[in-house]
Amino acid sequence: MESIVSHKIAIIGTGFVGSTTAFALALSGIVPEIALIDLNARKAEGEAMDINHGMAFIPPASVYNGDYSSCSGAEIIIITAGANQKPGETRLDLVKKNTAIFKEMVPQLVKYNDKAIYLIVTNPVDILTYVTLKVSGLPSNQVIGSGTVLDSSRFRFFLGKLCGIDPRNVHAYIIGEHGDSEVAAWSLTNIAGTPFTEYCDRCDKGCDQAEKQAIVDDVRNAAYKIIERKNATYYAVALAVRRIVECILRDENSVLTVSSLMKGQYGIDNICLSLPSIVGKTGIKKVLEMSLKEEEIASLKKSAETLKEVASTLEL
Ligand code: 2OP
Repeated sequence: MESIVSHKIAIIGTGFVGSTTAFALALSGIVPEIALIDLNARKAEGEAMDINHGMAFIPPASVYNGDYSSCSGAEIIIITAGANQKPGETRLDLVKKNTAIFKEMVPQLVKYNDKAIYLIVTNPVDILTYVTLKVSGLPSNQVIGSGTVLDSSRFRFFLGKLCGIDPRNVHAYIIGEHGDSEVAAWSLTNIAGTPFTEYCDRCDKGCDQAEKQAIVDDVRNAAYKIIERKNATYYAVALAVRRIVECILRDENSVLTVSSLMKGQYGIDNICLSLPSIVGKTGIKKVLEMSLKEEEIASLKKSAETLKEVASTLEL
């Protein structure tokens, strides 16, 4: 189908995450054209049909199934294709399978579109963002991983619950790997502009340190707990992807913990991980290097080392 409107998005992979992302984007009304692409063409077709049959209830959008050539003209190519975590598997367990898929797929996509922002969602997302960057040869601002945008949202949700405050007024970041080595940047956490520790001092709830620490474990284990119960996670990650897409299409310059190539931040380079970053039309505009506590920096460096060890086993 010919592209007749701006704001075209292509989604590669129409499993749970890809199709839920398409649904979330269709509801948002900000993406008039959504191409769905899957090796299983009938699955992509079925998802497009299902969303289209609700068009009487949402803002108009052209949602259709296509092939890699449908990436042509897209502003953002969202990659959700690949194997997903089974109960008991870590995100890093998926690395071999999904790296092979990406090495085959990404060069074909780039042939059709080397101008789009590539938004990687497949796990292990930091490694696959790095793989995409290496095999595509694209500039680093153009290759983004959904990273810890979801984890930061989980962190804000749990903190909001503990404090009895709307998560949208809780500013908190999970940084590093989207996975087991991720780091809660407590020193950047604030509620309505007040540093978290100060907020707690003034609050009469009397939460103890253990309760606060439990939140970090809840965030880190969230996906495992959901996968044990329903075999996959997809609603929250789709909303996180929708938020990143909005930021890019509207050139919002919002600060999101997306994954991108490190270039010396906190002494880390040549690996992708998440730090609060300014995101807009050109993708990553700036990775912010805020003042973190010594122990947070040490944990971040450890997270980077974990990812580097994995990346060093790959032939890129
Ligand atoms: C999540 O955190 C599995 O990465 C996915 O929900």
